[in-house]
Order: sequence, then C-alpha cells, then structure tokens
Amino acid sequence: MTRTPLMAGNWKMNLDHLEATATIQRLHWALQDANFDYGKAEVAVLPPFTDLRSVQTVTDADNMSIRYGAQDVSVHPDGAYTGEISARMLSKLGCSYVVVGHSERRQYHGETDQEVGEKALAALAGGMVPIICVGEALAIRKAGEHVAYTLAQIDAVFAELAPELASRSVVAYEPIWAIGTGEVATPADAQEVCGAIRERLAELYGRDAAEAIRILYGGSVKSSNVAAIMAEPDVDGGLVGGASLDPEEFARVCRFSEYIA
Ligand code: 13P
Repeated sequence: MTRTPLMAGNWKMNLDHLEATATIQRLHWALQDANFDYGKAEVAVLPPFTDLRSVQTVTDADNMSIRYGAQDVSVHPDGAYTGEISARMLSKLGCSYVVVGHSERRQYHGETDQEVGEKALAALAGGMVPIICVGEALAIRKAGEHVAYTLAQIDAVFAELAPELASRSVVAYEPIWAIGTGEVATPADAQEVCGAIRERLAELYGRDAAEAIRILYGGSVKSSNVAAIMAEPDVDGGLVGGASLDPEEFARVCRFSEYIA
C-alpha cells in the first residue's frame, strides 16, 4: 500500500488576506523553481477563514497544484450560530481539507472528542477530508500514558465515523508539548504513536482501511528535521505550524523526499 504523503501548513491565526496571497504565490514559485514533483507529496495550506477566498482566487488563476483547507468547521449545517462557518461554505470555496480537534481548539474552546467527531462528519458530508488531530500533553507523556491517551481520543472521535468515512479521513498526531516549542518528538517517538494509531484503526476498520489512512506528525516540524521523521514507516506527512509561515522554508519541508538517503 503506498500512501501519498501530505504536507499541510497550518497558518493558525497569522497572515491577512493580502499576506496570504503573497505567501501562496511565493510557495508556488519556490516549488516550481525546484521542479517539485507533486506526486512525491501533496501540498496544502490551512489559512484563516478570511483568507480562503483570496487563496482560492490565486490558486485557480495560476492553476496551482497546491490545495487548501480550513482550520475548523461548525457541526451545524446552517442556522442561528453566530460566528460559525459551515462545511457547505468551505466546500463552495474549494477547500479540500478541514482541521478538526486541533489541541488549541480543545484547550481554548473546550472541544470534546464527540464534538471533534461531529466536525469530522460535517467535513466529510461536505465532500472534504477532515484532518483529525490527537495528541497528549506533557504531564501525560511524563506519566508514560501517551499511547493509551491518544488511542482513547481515536476511539472516541472515530466512534462517530462509519468505515467508508473513516477511510477518507486523515489523522494528525500532535503531541502538545512539541507544538510551537521547538521541542520535536524523536522519529521513534512519532513512530511509536503513529504506529499504535494505525493498529487501532486496523482493529476498528480492518487492515486495508488502516493502510489507506494517512497519519501525519505535527510539532516543530522544519526542513532540518522533516526527513528523519518522514523516514518512519507510519508517518505519512506533516502538519506544520510556524515553519509554514515562511514559504521558502515550507517548500524545503515539502521537498523532504530529496533528503531521504
Ligand atoms: P508548530 O509547527 O509551530 O510546532 O505547530 C504545530 C501545529 O500545531 C500544527 O497544527
């Protein structure tokens, strides 16, 4: 089973729509200058909602192969939910992906696993691929409970998803202690949890489905550490925060296959 790697740049709450336009153009040019082969890795950016229309316009106009998506979605299809954005709105803007359950949403907005599962379902119903985030805080890792904790999140979120929907999803393992801290999980740490996630998905949905689902690692990924992490068998890509805000650096991250010996 060969899974096409996915490098997704989560811009978080950075870059206004003018900066977004310039950033995506520079990313496209950097990849073009390097004769980047999009068969080696799918490239996506995940801008704030207010940038999506501009990103759509520029990627369409220049016929770019870069995909894009949103950082969150409402569980509701429409209605009186002030401030929320529906899956239909995102799909209409050409989004391919939606991040659900990022640790910053869980931590600052109290999102539960059940809600994360419902958001994944909303994204899938809108024809988009959810990037379902899981991962433990430092205290849980120190207690040696990181695998059990992360698998419990997988069980609870995937309880919302029927097999055909599960196999269209992406999982991102992001240990919270490695996010924005410069502290990277070792390749072995990433493999330990990503491998355990794949085994759990195989128990839930069967081996074929589990082998088809892409599992990303996120947490201080940059061009200097990406190749070692991507060399692990169950790591199928990266969810990249800080390093994705610099388009030339993110292009180097996307080119990881050129540095794997
Ligand atoms: P950093 O790459 O900045 O550590 O962020 C990781 C992340 O949270 C991506 O979603």
